[in-house]
Amino acid sequence: SPVTNKEKHRPQIHFTPERKWMNDPNGMVYYKGKYHLFYQFYPGGTKWGPMHWAHATSKDLVHWERLPVALYPDSLGYIFSGSAVVDAGNTSGFGKDGKTPLVAIFTHHNPKAEKAGRSDSQNQSIAYSLDEGQTWTKYSGNPVLKNPGISDFRDPKVSWYAAQKKWIMTLATKDRITFYSSPDLKSWTKESEFGERLGAHGGVWECPDLFPLSLNGKKYYVLLISINPGAPNGGSGTQYFIGDFDGSKFTPLDTATRWIDYGTDNYAGITWANTGGRKVFIGWMNNWTYANQVPTEEWRGATTLPRELRLINLNNRISLRSEPVAELSVLDKSRVNLPGAFHAGSPKKVNKSPIKGPYKVQLQTDRLASFSVVLSNKDNNQLLVGYDKGKDSFFIDRTAAGPSEFNKEFAKIHYAPRISKGKTITLTLFVDVASVELFADNGLTVMTDVFFPDTPLDVISVKATTNLNLKNFSYTPLKTIW
Ligand code: FRU
Repeated sequence: SPVTNKEKHRPQIHFTPERKWMNDPNGMVYYKGKYHLFYQFYPGGTKWGPMHWAHATSKDLVHWERLPVALYPDSLGYIFSGSAVVDAGNTSGFGKDGKTPLVAIFTHHNPKAEKAGRSDSQNQSIAYSLDEGQTWTKYSGNPVLKNPGISDFRDPKVSWYAAQKKWIMTLATKDRITFYSSPDLKSWTKESEFGERLGAHGGVWECPDLFPLSLNGKKYYVLLISINPGAPNGGSGTQYFIGDFDGSKFTPLDTATRWIDYGTDNYAGITWANTGGRKVFIGWMNNWTYANQVPTEEWRGATTLPRELRLINLNNRISLRSEPVAELSVLDKSRVNLPGAFHAGSPKKVNKSPIKGPYKVQLQTDRLASFSVVLSNKDNNQLLVGYDKGKDSFFIDRTAAGPSEFNKEFAKIHYAPRISKGKTITLTLFVDVASVELFADNGLTVMTDVFFPDTPLDVISVKATTNLNLKNFSYTPLKTIW
């Protein structure tokens, strides 16, 4: 059937492939005014299969242009996740006629070796582009980093460590991270390992990212590590550490396990290369528990909204905040203010007419009190997003948000601890056909969940448990990107 980009569950403000399967975002690099997004893609079906890197670009992180597949599987295997860099100094020697090479660093996964039970099926390889990312040539000397006998050895994230003029590769190696360094992206030397006895270990470690962020003039390093399974609400999730990196070794500030998102649907997220001091993150809006079963037909999988990551010091504990990028405001139509006074009792509807298309909801409470924002439709689907004072937690309840028989783990209530100690709560929700993204307390607690309603949730109600006054309560309909 023809793709309309308006199919029943097609996101309207999120990136999706026109057709077929996608998982992890890969190779994100900003170059000459364009944000490149590559991603794990299987052109042969809507379930995971032999992996390619598909490609899209955006000038504003909001509108995307879908482009031809960039990397195809070859005799060394499928093209698994990885990253891309601007080799401004032409350290790789791939540059020609003054053209700067973009270099992609990815995992070659050899399915034959895996089938034969060999532990060296995953190796790291590179490819380069001299036409600003349009076409790619694989390096003839691949792989550049051979597997030493570790069954899970993948997802290289590479960045330039200027102080020592070398590249650092952050690699997921089963139950830990291994750091490697290189002068030229071709020869790699092991520097150190991190995390065997730290953090969550309910599943294998995947898709790491290491990047600096400054807070009050001091530089810290953030280490993101995706893990599957073992996330706080089940299945796939992304934990992080904050610490220091000296070009060789990562030293965390403390041993706490922290999560970038407590919803079930933000996985394998990493940040764009070459964006200066700003760090922009995007994840795969899905969970391996049910990713191959979610009820979309033409395509499967989407990215999260892009988020800007920042640090904050809360009572001498440094945490990461993630907030939707400011660029998204180009989608705002006119904001509709809503009445904010509620009595304890059953949900009270607040919007006069059904909301067309995706929208954003914003509110602030006058104190800490339990409440939920109920999103519903005429088909009796409802999604609850709120705060539970007894648990001091935010929650998303998707148990009645639409059909869920495709997987028995799907229909659940997800909880996220409140990290802020502030006396009032601010919430921003992005609702886009089949997903909700909750940014609480300026991005300190974040939850991303997908759901599959029969028709879009176009009615907003509020359920209060005690008398409640919401301030700045509004919704803003959003323009669609397709
Ligand atoms: C994470 C992941 C990566 C791997 C890719 C394969 O979702 O399992 O570790 O490179 O997906 O598609």
